[in-house]
Amino acid sequence: MARSIDPEVVKRIDGLRRELHRHNHRYFVLDDPEISDAEYDRMMKELIELETLWPELASPDSPSQRVGSPPLDRFETHKHRHPMQSLEKGFDEADFISFDQRVKKALNSDAEVLYTVEPKIDGIAVELVYENRRLALASTRGDGVNGEVITANVKTIPTVPLVLQEHEDLPVPSPLEVRGEVFMTKENFRLLNEQRLKQEQPLFANPRNAAAGSLRQLDSAITAQRPLEIYVYGVGDPLALNTDSHAEAMAWLRRLGFRTNPLIRTKIPLTEVLSCYRELEEKRGQIPYEMDGMVVKVDRFSFQDRLGSTSRSPRWAIAIKFKATQETTRVLDIRVQVGRTGALTPVAHLEPVRVGGVVVSRATLHNQDEIEKKDIRIGDMVFVQRAGDVIPEVVKVVASSRDGTQKPFQMPHSCPVCGATVVRLAGEAVIRCVNAACPAQLKGHIRHFVSKPGFDIDGLGEKRIDQMVDAGLISSCADLFDLNAESLKKLEGMAEKSIQNLLSAIENSKRISLSRFLVALGIRHVGEHIAKILSFELKDIDTILSVTPERLETIEGIGQVVANSVWAFFSREENLKSIQKMIKSGVVIIPDASPTENQHLAGASFVLTGRLSSMPRSRAKQLIEKAGGTVTGAVTGQTDYVVVGEDPGSKLTEAQKRGIQILSEPEFLKLVGASEQPG
Ligand code: IVH
Repeated sequence: MARSIDPEVVKRIDGLRRELHRHNHRYFVLDDPEISDAEYDRMMKELIELETLWPELASPDSPSQRVGSPPLDRFETHKHRHPMQSLEKGFDEADFISFDQRVKKALNSDAEVLYTVEPKIDGIAVELVYENRRLALASTRGDGVNGEVITANVKTIPTVPLVLQEHEDLPVPSPLEVRGEVFMTKENFRLLNEQRLKQEQPLFANPRNAAAGSLRQLDSAITAQRPLEIYVYGVGDPLALNTDSHAEAMAWLRRLGFRTNPLIRTKIPLTEVLSCYRELEEKRGQIPYEMDGMVVKVDRFSFQDRLGSTSRSPRWAIAIKFKATQETTRVLDIRVQVGRTGALTPVAHLEPVRVGGVVVSRATLHNQDEIEKKDIRIGDMVFVQRAGDVIPEVVKVVASSRDGTQKPFQMPHSCPVCGATVVRLAGEAVIRCVNAACPAQLKGHIRHFVSKPGFDIDGLGEKRIDQMVDAGLISSCADLFDLNAESLKKLEGMAEKSIQNLLSAIENSKRISLSRFLVALGIRHVGEHIAKILSFELKDIDTILSVTPERLETIEGIGQVVANSVWAFFSREENLKSIQKMIKSGVVIIPDASPTENQHLAGASFVLTGRLSSMPRSRAKQLIEKAGGTVTGAVTGQTDYVVVGEDPGSKLTEAQKRGIQILSEPEFLKLVGASEQPG
């Protein structure tokens, strides 16, 4: 006999579901939460408890479904009511111009056609079928006709609405097929792989594979733990909608609760499409997810209808691709480089390959741990990647390409340049050459000393520096200022003219601002930004030479790690001697020009982690940029500050490991001069 159900329970469950749907939408889609995460978790916990006690009240569109359902044996297939076509590809602006001409010809019109453009996200296409405003089924694209049913998995994606928002003026056709791209951000992909490394699980090659692997899980509880997101980009049958353009259909989908790409540009003419493409390709490195191009769609549905489709793709849309940023190539050799701090870095020498428009023939392998974790061997085929202006890196080995001829690599036990012993300090992943007189360290120091942010001496490239050190012409940075025509003549390939040019470049570099001088010295943790702070605060080199760590720590923007490093540098006799020698040779250190108002963070690089209680991230970013700083996604050697909110991620650990200055929320607010109060 069925037990009787308490109407209060039904009401409570119903209320909780409604509220949870609403908060979910506010948090994930609108980025504007009303309640704390803890409160959300409490409500979800109560709902799951009630549903466990009252299984007869279970519902497939309950927010509790986001945590995953029992595993499947296999995926069912689903025939799409309207095929999911692919897009015609173009590779440059010319391909788009000829597309535009074809469109106009087919429409038999010379009038301007308006387009809507959006990023082509490199993820997985899915179709979401809603019946009576409820998510009934989700499937992959499959072969375009039949896809795999992945409903339970898709329900775990927080940005997928399980029930559509209700608006009186918005009738929703049933069924409604919404299409979009499921993806993982680059940062979340990195974190996932980091975690998999620790658990000794195979790595994903790229965010797309990670998203696909997460989505095609028979056990949706696993999918639920993967940080997947969605942007929707269309519907199965546009003519069933009450709108007459793609742009309006997207606005309509947003009102129903879907997330659409904020980078969409609607109803623009040919010329703007071209400039959008250029802008998007340029911005590519800063966008948190991988895009492989830009999709251009004829905006008007009546035009789309007239243009129709070929057997594979619609004639009203085209994807103009960007240059690939990930490629496969072979590791020809692994060699060791010694840097200015004595760190030994293994470098993969690769069969040259074009990645993102640039030929790559070397990639850093960081250290021995990294090589072992990724199990990279000489002779392996590997994925290499370049993101923005970052140094190329090896992502992963193509495991299937191993044929037994590949050779594992071991870091040497002595410095490959000077032969001195190498050490690995506790807690460090790098191996260092301990010989302070190692020519490789000296060469690295000189390269840094003369580089653009330092003395900025033209005509002193890597080869010249190697030659000078090898010939014994210089044994410290200060020796550069003693060079003369007589000694330079001894170097091979140094003609009269280049000797004169070099000597006058050295002469001209001698007047240098205090901050650039500090950068040139190569003090650990002192980049352009910290050097500026020191320069503005302490004003002249004499004050800096005798500064105490206590005084340094009173300076806003300077933490303990930086203070200690600066102090340690200027406590060393040989560093002081070297500076005195430079001054004696005619180096004149001048004060920095005062900073323009409000741009007190010029050049500073920030990473944000965790939730800020006083403002959304977008506002924090705005404040930093207004003050001249920049915000990046990952903690690197270039990062100046890591701002830590509630529940920080692994970026905090990374920052601690690297000794980067960490700012709490109140410290951050003070630094940017914000009026907000932490909540
Ligand atoms: S429109 C009829 N818009 O690209 C074509 N597709 O080759 C409908 N994709 O399978 C596709 N971002 O996975 C469209 N903004 C976007 C897209 C996009 C990524 C993918 C999608 C599709 C493939 C087409």
